[in-house]
Amino acid sequence: MSRAAVVCGLGGALPATAVTNEELAAQLDTSDQWIRTRTGIGLRYVVAPGESTSDLAVAAGERALESARRKGGSHTDTTAGAGADVDLVVLATSTPDRPCPGTAPGVAHRLGLGTVPAFDVAAVCTGFVYALATAASMITAGVAERALVIGADTFSTILDPVDRTTRAIFGDGAGAVVLRAGESGEPGALLGFDLGSDGSGADLITVRAGGSRQRSTGEPPAEGDQFFAMEGRPVFTEAVINMSESSQRLLDRVGWTPGDLDKVVAHQANVRILHAVGEQLGLEDKQIVVNLDRVGNTVAASIPLALSDAAAEGDLVPGHRVVLTGFGGGLTWGSAALVWPDIEPVTQS
Ligand code: UT7
Repeated sequence: MSRAAVVCGLGGALPATAVTNEELAAQLDTSDQWIRTRTGIGLRYVVAPGESTSDLAVAAGERALESARRKGGSHTDTTAGAGADVDLVVLATSTPDRPCPGTAPGVAHRLGLGTVPAFDVAAVCTGFVYALATAASMITAGVAERALVIGADTFSTILDPVDRTTRAIFGDGAGAVVLRAGESGEPGALLGFDLGSDGSGADLITVRAGGSRQRSTGEPPAEGDQFFAMEGRPVFTEAVINMSESSQRLLDRVGWTPGDLDKVVAHQANVRILHAVGEQLGLEDKQIVVNLDRVGNTVAASIPLALSDAAAEGDLVPGHRVVLTGFGGGLTWGSAALVWPDIEPVTQS
């Protein structure tokens, strides 16, 4: 057995406002039938005016910390600072509160975590897996003992109001896990990662303006360039290929076969993508976790929110062999493997 990062808490948060397909159809040239059959999505949540990514991140973080206190994650070591629950915060987001500074330090401050190291990871829909790998590596290296890893995004704040495709898919939310130092043989230990990127596809998922490439000049950006843009068809194909291949590489490394898996928790972008990944890996439907019908594509929050829902509903139980797999802008992809621990997710205050 060797030192490993172990999942010991899980939380999720959604904004109060739900938007149904019918409500979207009242504003845009779309229909409940199109959205359901082409994506599987029935509902998504959006932040209120004035509400931002950090607000959701704080709510999910609080709940993950509460979950860790309830079962198996009690903590009395305060070496990282008086009263600190964790000594590291990693926040995956592509919709930070501001372009500069990172959003994580403010989240750590609002959570009362003292002066812990806190930083953002930007890997769009793969952000949570990248953040998990970063925090887990810092724990196994002895740089941290306990980490709060949050995935939070508010894509409703960057969507083009007249783009029926992206508005049908994306929703806001946050999910978080607590990691603690433990042993590789324990349930909850992160057993391995597979991470990758292909920057030749950077234009497929993008916000063109607002960075150093298309600088702010004081003039408004070129038509629509301030909004999120996605080329759905090629992204669909790349998502299926890369989540399948990444999962398979990781399974080979961990020594599991697809048949050994109880659950695959893939990034929730489109139910047709989930089924295509299942087909590539030779999985049965019962092995694939689906919650996008209720929340849409919540970007970096997608995987932890799917974990929270599956665990809360008893679809994911202690001892299950689980692979998490994500794909997103960059392009980026990543997978993680673990045996599900005995934890109680907290999704409502
Ligand atoms: O989270 C990061 C990764 N993102 C993804 O994985 C998303 C991957 N892509 C997808 O999920 C799908 O490509 C979409 C859901 C985005 C689009 O579905 P599609 O089946 O690939 O549709 P399409 O883009 O090929 O468009 C087919 C038609 C088009 O109309 P025409 O040109 O055939 O007349 C679109 O304009 O569907 C139209 N369309 C819509 N119609 C009604 C696109 N969006 C909508 C809509 N309502 N909301």
